[in-house]
Amino acid sequence: MRVNHPFRPNASPSNAPLLEVEHLRVHYGAIVAIKDVSLRVCQGEIVAMIGANGAGKTTTLKTLAGLLPVASGAIRFAGNSLLEMPAEKRVGEGISLVPEGRAIFPTLTVLENLELGAYLHRHAPTMRESIEDIVGLFPRLGERMRQEAGTLSGGEQQMLAIGRALMSRPTLLLLDEPSLGIAPKLVQQIFEAIRRIASAGVTILLVEQNTRIALATSHRAYVLRTGEVAMQGVSSDLSQNPEVQAAYLGG
Ligand SMILES: Nc1ncnc2c1ncn2[C@@H]1O[C@H](COP(=O)(O)OP(=O)(O)OP(=O)(O)O)[C@@H](O)[C@H]1O
Ligand SMILES: [Mg+2]
Repeated sequence: MRVNHPFRPNASPSNAPLLEVEHLRVHYGAIVAIKDVSLRVCQGEIVAMIGANGAGKTTTLKTLAGLLPVASGAIRFAGNSLLEMPAEKRVGEGISLVPEGRAIFPTLTVLENLELGAYLHRHAPTMRESIEDIVGLFPRLGERMRQEAGTLSGGEQQMLAIGRALMSRPTLLLLDEPSLGIAPKLVQQIFEAIRRIASAGVTILLVEQNTRIALATSHRAYVLRTGEVAMQGVSSDLSQNPEVQAAYLGG
């Protein structure tokens, strides 16, 4: 994947489903976090998942990444069931998660954090090319390669977390709250990078509390409410929907 070209708007995504989730149910012990979630993400799409705190957004992404067991339902990626596939194999299949809270290694350098993300593609020329792509996307990281990751600003840490996820050369990128706790100016930069990643051919499932930017960035969106899909549709339609405006766009 080469992502260091100028941003151009995403070509129309296909109708071929890359990810299909059917009637997903996920528990934490006795607590049912996901009651019934069905969604699909087509090749080339940016799909947003929005909803209030505790709606089940992170749980859904973690389950897709293979970090939580499924109680019932189906998950298919490129037509194949993921239910029996362990998390590290899913990375190899092209699914990469940028977790909520970023989870970078603070005492390692930026470069070392990136290298860890490449554990499936450790061939030196491939790693160099990936790092060049990431620096093209986030020039700030290029200036800070030898700096300890824990000393980066919140926005820079988010860039690093996205960069680390790209090192595994995903076809599907799962992003959990990339704007969380980040200054507005850096949020804009991060979302511009997300659009560029998508225009380079990476399909994106984006979880985001900032409904405005999520709907402006995505083709389609799902609204989660207490573990269920409450609404879904084309993002530009949802942003005009009075119920969405009242509940998630501050009226
Ligand atoms: N480890 C856990 N053990 C028990 N319950 C949990 C655990 N993690 C999450 N939950 C519960 O599952 C539900 C969904 O949580 P989840 O983190 O998926 O929500 P979210 O939509 O990502 O919220 P936020 O916007 O606050 O990040 C919540 O009711 C939460 O309390
Ligand atoms: Mg969450």
